[in-house]
Amino acid sequence: MHEPVMVAEVLEHLAPGRGGLFVDCTVGAGGHARAILEAGATRLIGLDRDPEALEHAAAALEPYGPRVDLVHADYRRLDDVLEARGVAAVDGVLADLGVSSMQLDAPGRGFSFRRDEPLDMRMDRTSGRTAAEAIREADERTLADVIYEFGEERYARRIARAIAEARAGGGIRTTGELAELVRRAIPRRGTSRIDPATRTFQAIRIWVNRELEGLDAFLTRAARRLAPGGRMVVITFHSLEDRIVKHTLRALQATADTGLTIRTKRPVVPSEAEIERNPRARSAKLRAAERQTS
Ligand SMILES: C[S@@+](CC[C@H](N)C(=O)[O-])C[C@H]1O[C@@H](n2cnc3c(N)ncnc32)[C@H](O)[C@@H]1O
Repeated sequence: MHEPVMVAEVLEHLAPGRGGLFVDCTVGAGGHARAILEAGATRLIGLDRDPEALEHAAAALEPYGPRVDLVHADYRRLDDVLEARGVAAVDGVLADLGVSSMQLDAPGRGFSFRRDEPLDMRMDRTSGRTAAEAIREADERTLADVIYEFGEERYARRIARAIAEARAGGGIRTTGELAELVRRAIPRRGTSRIDPATRTFQAIRIWVNRELEGLDAFLTRAARRLAPGGRMVVITFHSLEDRIVKHTLRALQATADTGLTIRTKRPVVPSEAEIERNPRARSAKLRAAERQTS
């Protein structure tokens, strides 16, 4: 099961005890959503692009009945979702970005190199290209750029070359094939505990799901939907995302008509005890902002 990260910190900054309408833009297994409802939110709209995650959320949030409205949607369509419901403003927005451990661990999704299975990696399996298709269609230069930029992988060119060569000889269909190819393409480095395929897998996942595209526009739309006194909380899991969130919130704060004030000068990080309990929380960073009342 997916354990929600920094629940106490989310509640502190989102302040659902005020009541009102909250939007969980990445409802996942519903862990944060449940905490928000328990803390006093009157209603919650939960979005997720993954229909399987929504099934888990529906089961977890069933006790809250009509207070919850779950929607299969990309958060970049937040305005459409709110307009379809006649909602002009909301009291809080949460975005807990990236993939869930549920998605990473579920067999058959193709996110993990710990199993050999078809290389899919789509969070939303109802649309878009699988990772295997995207890799097959991209040129070597694009692959190298993706792996370098989204994986911060210094051996990106070597890996892209190895992928291009493998393609010429029949293609890469499974997670196991890709992981093996990456491990062979880059020099062994001493005693690192991290599998050398980790960075490439992260890069391809971010690329296939277009995770960074439109994140700034989404944050801007979400900020503009906040009612006076409304709060916004964003959790990221890698530095590229956190940088976008940091810069976008700063730009919004500097734009007087948004009335937005950043509540977290520095990103909030999980406690040692939480990291001990849930190692996936290690790279989480939380940033929050508030729309002023006047
Ligand atoms: C880290 S998990 C969220 C876990 C959730 N907070 C919980 O308590 O269970 C991220 C979720 O966001 C979803 N997601 C990622 N990108 C999305 C997007 N662009 N639009 C909607 N959902 C997205 C994923 O499918 C995944 O279920």
